[in-house]
Amino acid sequence: MAPMTRRKAHHDHTPNGIMIDYYAKRSYAGMIITEGTIITQDAIGFGNVPGIFTDKHIEIWQKITDAVHKNNGIIFLQLWHCGRISHPIFHNGKPPISASETNANVPLGSSGYTSSISRAASTSEIQSLINDYATAAENAMKADFDGVEIHGANGYLVDQFLHYCTNQREDEYGETPENMARFCLEVISACGKIIGFNRVGLRLSPGGHMSGIVTDYKDQFIYQHLLNELNKIPIAYVHTGIFDDSTVFSELGGLTATSFLRKYYSNTLIASGGYDFTSAESSIKQGLFDLVAMGRPFIANLDLLEKLKTNQVLRQYDQNMLNTLE
Ligand code: FNR
Repeated sequence: MAPMTRRKAHHDHTPNGIMIDYYAKRSYAGMIITEGTIITQDAIGFGNVPGIFTDKHIEIWQKITDAVHKNNGIIFLQLWHCGRISHPIFHNGKPPISASETNANVPLGSSGYTSSISRAASTSEIQSLINDYATAAENAMKADFDGVEIHGANGYLVDQFLHYCTNQREDEYGETPENMARFCLEVISACGKIIGFNRVGLRLSPGGHMSGIVTDYKDQFIYQHLLNELNKIPIAYVHTGIFDDSTVFSELGGLTATSFLRKYYSNTLIASGGYDFTSAESSIKQGLFDLVAMGRPFIANLDLLEKLKTNQVLRQYDQNMLNTLE
């Protein structure tokens, strides 16, 4: 099950008790990746998203992992920092932090706010951010998660270091593919050293398409370097972050996001983005990727696995289904 923000957590980012039932009912997915979960208060961009930085957060997440494990499910926590996709209202009037000073100018969900101009993180702030990811990963272990997925996709903080349009730094985190991949690799390394690399996954959007990212043809060289380095580290997996994985990107040499990742990453690869049973099965058989994550079908169909197994017609997802958490 792909990560899906549901915004039903309490105001202080404690997961809501109704989330226990929501995730438990979907344990049959085999593996659940939770909704994006903020690693610190400063990581916020949207209200009512869950966090993993207080004892109370850990306590309720533990009830969720317990319920999933009782049904023999596996559950990874998606670690999220929104970076520039945020607003000064969340930061005592200061601009949100990012790789550089840029402005995505995108709506922040249904809040009525638009993301604002960001400020560039100092080198010491980058070290603190890396530590924040590591602490969040450690907290996820306290809550008995099986692993964490670093949200490096969809134009949020990690992704903001991986594109030229959002990373205009001139220090060791900018300018060259080696430097621009550094933040992502240091986050992976810090988390892996604390919880084990086999418990760390990474979601990536090489063909940036969300949150104001405009992909430059040079971005592909950053990803090539990143994936080459990731091939040397025994992380759990790389996971495509995209809504429609049939999209072909001229900036990625005419490849789809997943086929680009497959070309440069040789270990476990999870695809997502508009797959159904037939397209997933045939792509896996052709060796295009190893596993598939489905998102919206899990919201629209409580009995998704049963329906897929028996070839039944799926109930179509619509946005109104997000109003309640069933
Ligand atoms: C998402 N998606 C998403 N991705 C992510 O990495 N973290 C997140 O928190 C969210 N939140 C989210 C909320 C909602 C309501 C939707 C519909 C989607 C993207 C999601 O994981 C997935 O990549 C897409 O939905 C495409 O897969 P499907 O739905 O076509 O199977």
